[in-house]
Amino acid sequence: MTIAVLGGAGYIGSHTVAQLVKAGEDVIVLDNLITGHRQAVASKARFYQGDIRDYQFLSQVFTQEKVTGIIHFAAFSIVPESMQDPLKYFDNNTGGMITLLEAMKQFGIDKIVFSSTAATYGEPQQVPIHEDDPQIPTNPYGESKLAMEKIIKWADQAYGIHFVALRYFNVAGAMPDGTIGEDHHPETHLIPIILQAAAGTRDNLQIFGDDYPTKDGTNVRDYVHVVDLADAHILAMQYLQAGNPSDAFNLGSATGFSNLEILHAARQVTGEAIPAKIGPRRPGDPSTLIAASDKARKVLGWQPHFDDVEAVIKTAWNWHRSHPEGYGDR
Ligand code: UFG
Repeated sequence: MTIAVLGGAGYIGSHTVAQLVKAGEDVIVLDNLITGHRQAVASKARFYQGDIRDYQFLSQVFTQEKVTGIIHFAAFSIVPESMQDPLKYFDNNTGGMITLLEAMKQFGIDKIVFSSTAATYGEPQQVPIHEDDPQIPTNPYGESKLAMEKIIKWADQAYGIHFVALRYFNVAGAMPDGTIGEDHHPETHLIPIILQAAAGTRDNLQIFGDDYPTKDGTNVRDYVHVVDLADAHILAMQYLQAGNPSDAFNLGSATGFSNLEILHAARQVTGEAIPAKIGPRRPGDPSTLIAASDKARKVLGWQPHFDDVEAVIKTAWNWHRSHPEGYGDR
């Protein structure tokens, strides 16, 4: 049984590939390397460079390899960028899914675990957010992922392609042994940006908005460690392999931290002062996102190991200090 990991050179993909390889799975990685890093891919995984929107490429790989399941991370995921350039998101994320499903149908691959997002919920009416709560995205990124969820539901009904949609909340941290971690260009995520400021490689750290209806006025997010998230994908694939029906699961910690609380935790972990200013709101940001994730725990048997935000930040800081330039390939 071969698992194909699409976007396996990216941040979450590479951690999942590493965990799959550790579990003894046969893994291939497909990645166009637009945002991914070749060095991030575990050496035991066979690598194919190409784009999921390229049907010929998918067809060549699926002819050569007997793929039985797909884990799909190959998407753009930056909320503010999606506000500036929505078509880029609908093309790669939603369009890419259609090409991929065509290829899966053609090659008889009937299992897919894919990255969805908390951004599909938009501004929630209540927290924690449950899987069957309304999905009304406030940005094109969330909309492009919601469209993927909707398309795949019909593909399941018509062609029997079973899926698990994993709706991530805020992912952070790095492999605890420091071998792989987060390296985006440009970096837009709060924790790595704060750590760049702690390391002195970035100034002008801003917290975007302090007039939200939250405990301290800054946005509240639910952080989950990237290795815990990776493990959830493996469990989701096992769930499909056991013949269970298609479903969607939140992946979060059920605890919310405000942006100022994250800043404070990073000061504790790094021992650095980390100067920061309050800036204007960032367009497209929902005020509070906290997951109810008991469903993943109950149905998939998911058991996150990193249950406090300082432990998450520690692994990210470990990676950042040993790789101040990330993979150094940009
Ligand atoms: N933020 C700052 N300053 C910065 C960067 C971010 O204050 O320099 C704030 C943002 O405004 C937001 C919070 O930090 O309030 C988190 O922002 P991130 O960019 O780190 O993450 P997002 O919450 O925007 O998005 C992430 C993923 C999405 C996912 C979402 C769901 O990137 O894919 O979490 O919770 F949908």
